[in-house]
Amino acid sequence: MDAGQADTTDDHPPASLLAAIAPKDMYFYSFLKPWLGDGLLLSAGDKWSHHRRLLTPAFHFEILKSYIKIFNKSADIMHAKWKRLASEGSAHLDMFEHISLMTLDSLQKCVFSFDSNCQENPSEYIAAILELSALVTKRHHQIFMRMDFLYYLTPDGRRFRRACDLVHDFTDAVIQERRRTLFSQDSHDLLKAKAKTKTLDFIDVLLLAKDEDGKELSDEDIRAEADTFMFRGHDTTASGLAWVLYNLARHPEHQERCRQEVRELLRDREPKEIEWDDLAQLPFLTMCIKESLRLHPPVAAISRCCTQDVVLPDGRVIPKGNMCVISIFGIHHNPSVWQDPEVYDPFRFNPENPQKRSPLAFIPFSAGPRNCIGQTFAMTEMKVVLALTLLRFRVLPAGEEPRRKPELILRAEGGLWLRVEPLSAGPQ
Ligand code: HEM
Repeated sequence: MDAGQADTTDDHPPASLLAAIAPKDMYFYSFLKPWLGDGLLLSAGDKWSHHRRLLTPAFHFEILKSYIKIFNKSADIMHAKWKRLASEGSAHLDMFEHISLMTLDSLQKCVFSFDSNCQENPSEYIAAILELSALVTKRHHQIFMRMDFLYYLTPDGRRFRRACDLVHDFTDAVIQERRRTLFSQDSHDLLKAKAKTKTLDFIDVLLLAKDEDGKELSDEDIRAEADTFMFRGHDTTASGLAWVLYNLARHPEHQERCRQEVRELLRDREPKEIEWDDLAQLPFLTMCIKESLRLHPPVAAISRCCTQDVVLPDGRVIPKGNMCVISIFGIHHNPSVWQDPEVYDPFRFNPENPQKRSPLAFIPFSAGPRNCIGQTFAMTEMKVVLALTLLRFRVLPAGEEPRRKPELILRAEGGLWLRVEPLSAGPQ
């Protein structure tokens, strides 16, 4: 499936070598380590390449297909809430608040097959993840808090520890429980039966993963990977969705065109649910998402550390030992790469009119060997949720222009507020 952009770079030299020549710089990520351990996002070297190989099947479309029902259901729950809140005609909502809960709800079901009903009732586990993300962001702004021994003496540090313990305990409990079930029955028969009915969650896939020598992942590895998916998958996708709704609120003509596309697709269908094969039938909606990821990339920058001299195409050299920050936001807004970069124009991504631009002009999911492993998952969820949202609601600006706020992901200062107006289900 088209993952939005899977434009990877030339993979010579081999991926693992490339990743070793320019490993991630840990400046941005070091505070996440106690929470995410050696999961894919933070690991390096042989461990990373071994795990990346083992985890790639978890994002195969045969597995992702079964999550589409989850995405539909999570969107339904969020929309039911919006309808209640808009009983007076329309509702002012902070998109980040609502959509993050929804993406967390989906992820908890996809990763653990666990329904915490977090969109309706407070969930300790979900609150802990939100708190950890907020604390990591806050710590980045406090120069003296860089030192662990100081940080863990402060109330924030203690809060961080507590939330970390809670999240780890939850993940450990699911893994232990799953192992017990597997040992009490014939594990492989059970997993195979699940695989056949396509109801494998990420934990199952991680438990099944084996390398060429038959070596499995340890419980600690599985926990790190599951926690990494929970962290990396919720905020990014929520940011992508919140900003595309914002862009469509500011461009009602594009919003209406998307809505007509979705209505046409679901015309004779009840219940109105998006299925896997529909994803390729939403070309304009996909263009709108991509253009929004260009203008408002959820991950605004990444960083690498050069372990060798890196020769640039124009002959200049980045000397070994330097840290490089690659501004995804900067590339997406560079007028020598994009004409009128500040204009929201979905037609830039019209597949019928391919533009002559570098595959590296558009890199919301990064590129090369350490690109985003979850990009198809994210594009699928964004398409389902956006399609259902536009089918059910008109989205309008809520007054003041938001100010972009780049944190771990691209947010808006004070939240991203929009107005939503329920639409009747029938044709308008
Ligand atoms: C719109 C949504 C998303 C965006 C824009 C996004 C973007 C990115 C970017 C830019 C990177 C590279 C980070 C770096 O080099 O430091 C990355 C890595 C990663 N992403 Fe995503 N991501 C999204 C959704 C997801 C989802 C849904 C998942 C999992 C369920 C996920 C899991 C990961 C993981 C595990 C890595 C590390 C990969 C590695 O180093 O091998 N992402 N993502």
